[in-house]
Amino acid sequence: MAGRIPQAFIDELLTRVDIVDVIDTRVPLKKAGREYKACCPFHNEKTPSFTVSQVKQFYHCFGCGAHGTAISFLMEYEHMEFPEAVEDLAHLAGLEVPHESGSDTTSASTNQPLYDLLEAAAEFYQQQLRTHPHSNRAVDYLKARGLSGEVAARFCIGFAPPGWDNLIKALGKDKATHARLLETGLVIERSDGSGVYDRFRDRIQFPIHDRRGRTVGFGGRVLGDDSPKYLNSPESPVFHKGRELYGLFEARKAVRKLDRILVVEGYMDVVALAQYEINYAVATLGTATTPDHLEHLYRTVPEVVFCFDGDRAGRAAAWRALENALPVLSDGREARFLFLPEGEDPDTLVRKIGKQAFEQRISGAVPLSDFLFDQLASQLDMNSIDGRARLVDQARPLLARLPDSIFRQMMIEQLAEIAHTDPVRLSQRLEPVHESRLPADSPPAAPARPGKSAVREAIALLLYQPALAGAVEELPQAQDSVPGLALLSELLELLQRRPGLNTGAILEHWRGRDEARHLNKLAHWKPLAENLDLAAELGGLLEQIAQQATARRIDQLLDNEHQRPLDDDEKQELKNLLLARGPGP
Ligand code: GTP
Ligand code: MN
Repeated sequence: MAGRIPQAFIDELLTRVDIVDVIDTRVPLKKAGREYKACCPFHNEKTPSFTVSQVKQFYHCFGCGAHGTAISFLMEYEHMEFPEAVEDLAHLAGLEVPHESGSDTTSASTNQPLYDLLEAAAEFYQQQLRTHPHSNRAVDYLKARGLSGEVAARFCIGFAPPGWDNLIKALGKDKATHARLLETGLVIERSDGSGVYDRFRDRIQFPIHDRRGRTVGFGGRVLGDDSPKYLNSPESPVFHKGRELYGLFEARKAVRKLDRILVVEGYMDVVALAQYEINYAVATLGTATTPDHLEHLYRTVPEVVFCFDGDRAGRAAAWRALENALPVLSDGREARFLFLPEGEDPDTLVRKIGKQAFEQRISGAVPLSDFLFDQLASQLDMNSIDGRARLVDQARPLLARLPDSIFRQMMIEQLAEIAHTDPVRLSQRLEPVHESRLPADSPPAAPARPGKSAVREAIALLLYQPALAGAVEELPQAQDSVPGLALLSELLELLQRRPGLNTGAILEHWRGRDEARHLNKLAHWKPLAENLDLAAELGGLLEQIAQQATARRIDQLLDNEHQRPLDDDEKQELKNLLLARGPGP
């Protein structure tokens, strides 16, 4: 990846492009008063609650809570990564995206030659599938397995010809390339040090793409029954098996709005399903699904269906997937399990029963809750108190791994029902395990507590009309005494430094930070009436906040005084504060 994109560029970008255009070309909008509306593209609805504000350059759905800037929209709707979304908007605005140089740029730019080399290798293998004198064997093999030329091309499938040095000869002429061939594992050093040889020989080549479509490695399959059946590229600076998923890039390209993803075991499964227009399957690279994989999948879709053999090994693998999925299953995310008949994999099954029947099976996949409880119960005697107690014992640590959510509560209730016990007591017994999982320094929920606070109102006002910041002369002091005050000050400071930012551009300054949540919630606030004097309103709020801060600081100093004598500075501060507060309650 190239260096960081300067925030000033994002600011400019979001004043140049119009979120209404960006969304309207994808989801046709209707004007409604000052705003634009449509049926929400992120959930199913019949009456429009998806609202786009041109003034704020911000969208918000009152139905499902989806919200964000033009950048967020592309990330959510087109499944783009942040840099990709920025590139896309820049293209629209006719701007070139600048990149800051910095320490992380060096590592990024040193990887570019590796990506280039892997791309060249992928092209070489694809070309060999068409032109190599022995390629008819590979083509025949693919045909025998039922692959169409169209789907082979879509997945950029290639052929590594037999022989020890085809790739080296084709690409590795200079010393630098030679070193990179080794670094990506495309060639291997002989153990006696007498030279190198191609890793992939006489194999069908499946290029593995990262999320941005760059080739990062290969899986290579033998043409017959030799072993090992598959060879994979080794880990390299650009290839991490615990992170990449085979077919995800292709799925995102093929389906505009993915709403579920099927996780299968083999490359051939992904390709065969795609040929039958089930374009949303991905495979791990011969490893178990990691929490990292899952986190990324759930950022792309709300529903993941794991597909496994129905045999013992398949169930064991499914259980590992379940364990890894638990920590990322916050509300709105669903995991289900599809077990195939013995002896079938998705490749063979879809060819036998076709798209429709296969998708019916996907729709009937077992919910995670059923799989979890059934699997545990199958090894216990549910008719005995002892068996039920052991079920609770075994389920407890698993449920404790779920994030605090409605889903977790429902799982507890289901467990209580199965075990014939009281859900409230069960829930209490679960809590301590859960609490101990929280990092000690997890941020406090302020300032998003319910109810009004002057700080929240001031932030909402500024997000509604950023120009109000221009008239603020003094920023509130003693920031750590009032919850949220530090955030308000940071916001005021930004708006004074960069007047003219719209709400969307402001929010982008907080992307990826915890505070973004609070800001986003406040960003769709509107004043109750149109003709209020908002500047005066803000002035009043800031006054109120200053008083709060003074009062809190006085309390702090008085508290301190109980512990130890105040030093001279503190005494002076206290005196000034008491004078500033004047006579009062
Ligand atoms: P086909 O026999 O071509 O249908 O293969 P498949 O895609 O059905 O693969 P299978 O179900 O046998 O294996 C699933 C996945 O495990 C493969 O896609 C590979 O990622 C991995 N795998 C299978 N065999 C090997 C092997 O011999 N070595 C390595 N490293 N990985 C393998
Ligand atoms: Mn198979």
